[in-house]
Amino acid sequence: MCGIVGVIGRQDATQVLLGGLEKLEYRGYDSAGLYVNDQHGHDHLIRRVGRISALEAAVMPDIQGVMGIGHTRWATNGRPTEANAHPQVSSDERFYLVHNGVITNAQALADRFLQNVTLASDTDTEVLVQLVAVFARQGLDTPAAFKKALSLCEGSYACCLVDRLDPLHLYAAKAKSPLLIGQGDGFYVVASDALAMLDRTDQFLELEDGEVVTLTADSCRIETLAGQVQHRTPITVALDAADLDLGPYPYYMLKEIDEQPAVLRRLVSRYVEADSRIAVDPALLTALAAADRLYIVAAGTSYHAGLVGKPLFEQLAQVPTEVHLASEFGYHQPLLAEKPFFIFLSQSGETADSRQVLVNVKRQGFPSLTITNVATSTLAREADFALDLCAGPEIAVASTKAYTAQIAVEALLAQALGQQRGVPAAQAFDVAHQLSLAATAQEAILAEKPTVHALAGELFGDTRDAFFIGRGADYAVSLEAALKLKEISYVQAEGFAAGELKHGTIALITQGTPVVAFITDPATAAHTRSNAQEVEARGGRVLRIAAASLATPDDELVVQDVPSLLTPLVTIVVGQLLAYFTSLDRGYDVDRPRNLAKSVTVE
Ligand code: F6R
Repeated sequence: MCGIVGVIGRQDATQVLLGGLEKLEYRGYDSAGLYVNDQHGHDHLIRRVGRISALEAAVMPDIQGVMGIGHTRWATNGRPTEANAHPQVSSDERFYLVHNGVITNAQALADRFLQNVTLASDTDTEVLVQLVAVFARQGLDTPAAFKKALSLCEGSYACCLVDRLDPLHLYAAKAKSPLLIGQGDGFYVVASDALAMLDRTDQFLELEDGEVVTLTADSCRIETLAGQVQHRTPITVALDAADLDLGPYPYYMLKEIDEQPAVLRRLVSRYVEADSRIAVDPALLTALAAADRLYIVAAGTSYHAGLVGKPLFEQLAQVPTEVHLASEFGYHQPLLAEKPFFIFLSQSGETADSRQVLVNVKRQGFPSLTITNVATSTLAREADFALDLCAGPEIAVASTKAYTAQIAVEALLAQALGQQRGVPAAQAFDVAHQLSLAATAQEAILAEKPTVHALAGELFGDTRDAFFIGRGADYAVSLEAALKLKEISYVQAEGFAAGELKHGTIALITQGTPVVAFITDPATAAHTRSNAQEVEARGGRVLRIAAASLATPDDELVVQDVPSLLTPLVTIVVGQLLAYFTSLDRGYDVDRPRNLAKSVTVE
């Protein structure tokens, strides 16, 4: 999704902005731009379609500034063109604006206030900056014009504004889209993600929806749209900038796949006490124990992790659990139990679909927990409780270590809840030991990369479509393995319940169609094997991935045994590697697949 950076009070503003934009690249974008002002009458606007490197190439050495704003754009309103790239500029060239989010009433605002303005782009962002200019021409000062324009906007925005007539001030505002203010020694920065500015400062001020900020090099004033001044204490963002280094890896995705065993072990030491009790907020456990049904709400890969969580909560804690797609739940809320408890799974903690549900359930008075990798994120702040995935920054667009960390945290929480409720299955399930076993089993697969690479080449080298099948947890992992392959190698892949294939979809199997079968559950292994044979009888090429205790000579990959509730922690590593090598062999940019964004902040 789009990324915002801004800075005031640095002699090297251009470099600060370019460095910040580079760090936001992982979020996904299709054009980029920046505006800098040296506060001595010189300013520059540069926008380019494509990579940040194209923007950097266009920034000549003499383009320097003390303040400015920058943006990576993931097109929503209007195609990815230079005219639609940000900063957008008012017709009188006085105001420059970068914006994330979608202003849903932009057309109505343009019809009402901008009849005499010729718009130069197709963006809602331009409508906002032109509105500021119109209100300024009517006599309002810049903060008042900005606030008036924002108060008319519906939808979502995080934005940063420059008035070139007054380059000693920088303005920012937020509603629904993320934005942070970073505080340095004699300067301030603005960023939609702390990662962008972590090499400049680790002190950040969090903004609430409906707040506007006025920055100078050494002051920060936060107020509501109604003008009420707000006081905010900075938080320290404890991230290691070194986590962002690729080291010897060609891609972040491979690095993050490799980090998974370490993340599992980190979670065990973070959440499991010496006496085997799970260290979570007792108030969270009390709230969970009071619920008669859990609702896991998430999107994409996080939704797939939720599917793995359902049997964990049902078996270890004996609480009925439903898993819902946030984008569906938001507008089609099912009939709820009497005492629901909502669990939001989100790597970024910023997914707009999930946030929309959170806002709704809070309004209805239901308790909520966010499990996220970004402790400072909107979903973490706004839910009643938050649990940290402790996975370290995930930079590759395709989520890997956050998925396995989500499953591990669900297992830890399910055991804690089961212990609290006195469920015998939870007393018997030594989650710390099982997660340690899973970490070792992951390492065993990671040691087999050459084998997986060869299989990826044979199965998916030039295929247009592929299937992943399994039952129970193997079905859940099939969905995630198919999503990984789709995302980064553009193969039309489907995850399918193995037993359901014969009810129609088997019609798609022809000579050589690649089908990956996950076989890790003793209760269903024989059935899944039969389904694999049905595929082979129709010419399909089946790759069987089986748990060691169930393995037969037909199985080309064997994974170490872990309890069937946790097998996705292990089998998905094969799915991730198959996707990675397929993308690599096809020559794609593994970390930055087309059309995708890391943090999906629009509904
Ligand atoms: C896929 C992927 C996405 C995200 C989804 C939700 O690799 O990363 O499907 O899982 O956009 O994002 P979060 O987890 O940040 O809420």
